[in-house]
Amino acid sequence: MNAIPEEFQIKTLLNQDTYLVNGELKKWEGQTSAVFSTISSTEKYEPTILGSIPFMGEKEAMEAVEAASKAYNNGQGLWPTMKVVDRIKCMENFVTQMKTTRTEVVKLLMWEIGKSLGDSEKEFDRTVEYIYDTIDSLKELNSRSSHFSKVQGINAMVRRGPLGVVLCLGPYNYPLNETFSLLIPALIMGNPVIFKPAKHGVLLISPLLEAFRSSFPAGAINIVYGRGREVASPIMKSGKVDILALIGNSKSAIALQDQHPNKNRLRLVLGLEAKNPAIILPDADLDLTIQECIAGSLSFNGQRCTALKVLYVHESIADEFNKRFAAKVDALSFGNPWDKSVFLTPLPEKEKPAYIQELIDDATSKGAKIINKKGGEHTENYIFPAVLFPINKEMRLYHEEQFGPVVPILSFKDIQEPLNDMAESNYGQQVSLFGKDIKTIAPLIDTLVNLVCRVNLNSSCQRGPDVFPFTGRKDSAVGTLSIHDALRSFSIRTFVASKDNEYNNAILQELLNSKESNFINTDYIL
Ligand code: G3H
Repeated sequence: MNAIPEEFQIKTLLNQDTYLVNGELKKWEGQTSAVFSTISSTEKYEPTILGSIPFMGEKEAMEAVEAASKAYNNGQGLWPTMKVVDRIKCMENFVTQMKTTRTEVVKLLMWEIGKSLGDSEKEFDRTVEYIYDTIDSLKELNSRSSHFSKVQGINAMVRRGPLGVVLCLGPYNYPLNETFSLLIPALIMGNPVIFKPAKHGVLLISPLLEAFRSSFPAGAINIVYGRGREVASPIMKSGKVDILALIGNSKSAIALQDQHPNKNRLRLVLGLEAKNPAIILPDADLDLTIQECIAGSLSFNGQRCTALKVLYVHESIADEFNKRFAAKVDALSFGNPWDKSVFLTPLPEKEKPAYIQELIDDATSKGAKIINKKGGEHTENYIFPAVLFPINKEMRLYHEEQFGPVVPILSFKDIQEPLNDMAESNYGQQVSLFGKDIKTIAPLIDTLVNLVCRVNLNSSCQRGPDVFPFTGRKDSAVGTLSIHDALRSFSIRTFVASKDNEYNNAILQELLNSKESNFINTDYIL
C-alpha cells in the first residue's frame, strides 16, 4: 500500500451532530450510525472510520415536512413569493461559501465513495459551474417572461412558478453533483426542499450545512439523515410532498410514490437505472472504440448510470476486439483515490465484490468465459473487472444493471439483434454506436434515437455537458434534467390575465410602475 499523503489523512473524526431544519442547525442527541470507508489507512487491511451521522426517524422527518410546508405556506411563504432577483442573490451567496469548502469536500468524496482525486475535483467544480449556469439560465427565463402578451383581447403575463415541497434524494455515485442537479433548480424556482443524503457520500455534505443555513430563508432547505424507510417513507405518507426528485433505482422510486396518499398531485423527476449498450460495427476504428469502451464501461468502476453495461461486437471483429479490449482492461491501474494515474479505485459498498462475483459465477456456469487474465481477482475492497464473453439472455449479467466492475460482451451477426434487444429492454437511456460508413449508420441513428434518448457516435455514453438534456425512456427516467430543462421540471406555468380595457390596463400599468408585485414586473436581471 502506498503511503497516504499528509493532506488526505484522516486525523480527526467528523461526527455530524446537527441537522438543518426550519433555518436552524439543530443539535442531534439521539442514536447515530458510524460512517466507514472501505479504504484502509493501515498496512494490514481494515476499513477506516470517518465519523458518524444522525440516525433519524419519523419524528425528525415530520419536523422537516412541517418546516418545508411552513416555508411554502400554500404559496404565500417568503421563499415562493420572493422576487427572482432575490432568490438568485441567496443562491450566489450559497455558491460563494460553497467554493471555500472544496478541499474538504473533495477529500471526503475520496474517502466516502472511493472516487479518484481528479474525478472528485471534477465533481466539485462541475457542481459549482452547474449552479452558476442555473443562475444564468433563470435570468434568461425571467427576462423572456417579463412582458405582457395580448391575444384575443386578453393581456397576460406568463411565468413559471414553484410547485411546493420537494423531497430530494440523490445517488451515492455522485453524492454532490447529481444531488445538486436536483436540489439547486428545485430550490431556485421557489420550492422548499427536504434533502436526505444517499447511503454513501453523506459526510461530505457537512461542510456545506452552514452555507445552506445562512443563505436561504428558514425552511427553504431542510437536511435530514437516516435510512429511506425511517425518514423518506413518513415524509411521503404525510401527503405534503409535491415533487419527488430522485436519482437512484426504480424500486425505491415506486415504493415512495406508492406511499403518497394523492399520487395525482405528485410530480416526479427521476433518473433511474440503465443498461446502455455499445454497438460495434465491422468498420469501427478499433483503437478509438476500445478507448471509449474502457472509459464508458469502467470509469469510476462502472458505477455510473450512464456506464456502458453491455457491449455488442460484430462477429467479424469479435476476436480482435476481445483480445485487445481484455489486454487494455488488465493494464488499468488499481489504487487508492489519491494515487497518481489511478483508474480503478476501491468500491464503497462492502457487499459489491460478492455481488459482482455472483454475476460472474452465474455467467460462467452458463457458458461465458472470463477473457482477461486479472478478471475477478479479489482484494479486500475490490474485484478486478472481469470481461465476460459470450453473454446470453439466460445470464443475470445480461439483465441486471451491474453498476460495478464487470464487462459483458455479446457478438452479433445481424444488426437487428441488438436493436431487438434494446426494444425489449426495460431501459432506454443512451447507446454508443461505433462505425464509419454513413450508409449503415444513417438508418441506425434514425432507429436508435427512438429507442433511447442520446445516441453517442464513436463516443462513450455520458451525462454531460450539463446543458444537454439528460433523460431516458421506459424505466430509465421520468422528466428531463439539464441546466435549462431542470428549471422547467421543478416549476409550473402560471399567469395573470385580464381583459384588454382601459380599467384593467390602468391597474396593470400601476402594478408595473409601483413594483408592488414580485410577479407582475418587467425588471430584467442582467
Ligand atoms: O450516474 C449517472 C450519472 O448521471 C452519470 O453522469 O455521465 O457524467 O458520469 P456522467
